[in-house]
Amino acid sequence: MLCATPSYHYYHVPPMSSVFAHRHLLDIERLSKADIEAILDLAARYAAQNRSANKTCDRLKGKAIINLFFEDSTRTRASFELAAKRLGADTVNIPVETSSIKKGETLLDTVLTLDAMQIDGIVMRHNEDGAPHFVAPHVKAHIINAGDGKNEHPTQALLDALTILRHKKKIDGLTVAICGDVAHSRVARSNAVLLAKLGAKVRLVAPPVFALPNFGNLNVECSDDMQKGLAGADVVMALRIQRERIGASEQKIDTDDYARAYRLDHTRIGAAKPDAIVMHPGPANRGVEITDELADDPERSVIREQVEMGVAVRMAVLDLLLSGQENGHGA
Ligand code: NCD
Repeated sequence: MLCATPSYHYYHVPPMSSVFAHRHLLDIERLSKADIEAILDLAARYAAQNRSANKTCDRLKGKAIINLFFEDSTRTRASFELAAKRLGADTVNIPVETSSIKKGETLLDTVLTLDAMQIDGIVMRHNEDGAPHFVAPHVKAHIINAGDGKNEHPTQALLDALTILRHKKKIDGLTVAICGDVAHSRVARSNAVLLAKLGAKVRLVAPPVFALPNFGNLNVECSDDMQKGLAGADVVMALRIQRERIGASEQKIDTDDYARAYRLDHTRIGAAKPDAIVMHPGPANRGVEITDELADDPERSVIREQVEMGVAVRMAVLDLLLSGQENGHGA
């Protein structure tokens, strides 16, 4: 039984009896369209519950979830913690800066040590691509990827999809322009995979310095021109320059030059559809990839709503993985 009362649907999906046959959430790549729809359907119900007076329930009472973040995070970590608490789970945050990782313990030893405490889930963010995929086969706990290097950030793409659905009622047939440092962005990659699976057309708009090696196998259009890239878009997503993930040559990119050519503002958004929504995963560098005016424009920007949907999506993911329903044993 769900603890989220289905009070309204944004979206028609198969009934929730469809089994979510995954043990971990490692990436969007290995989710089917039905898996994605099942998560979004449940998340829509949790979004409604989160706006009600009764935000909490005991769906995951007695379960323990560890947040293991090797990279900085504000919204993702708080969002996972709130999601777990609203489902009645116990949560522990590991402050990596003061943990034994600093004493030279390997990633696998750290994860196996936590796993030995009979915990149920590990939410993990790591600077190396594939870190959660590497540890997952070794542990009893469910692993949830909260961002691995430049690879994927699956719950971000899911919360973005839920936000888009609330405004556009569908994803199939939409044109979504993702702008900025797409080459180093796990958000861009997870979104490109998810949106393509749900039938959207994805455009990546980036300067040549952020060429797109990561996206070679994806069916996306690429442009280095904002006007062309945004033309007729239903959704425009701005991204931060991921300076912590980029090489020395790219570090030389001049912020003012970049902003002149790629900053999203009210003039540039004019190339998109008149009702296009503006998104940003955060943290935003205001004035660089997006202007204050656009980021704060209630007619256009859905940035705060993305954050709100993040809690609901993470509740849905934790519920589907940890609630003891028949989960499959594959990844
Ligand atoms: C993103 C991330 O960490 O990949 N942030 C987030 O989780 N909301 C994007 C970023 O860091 O720029």
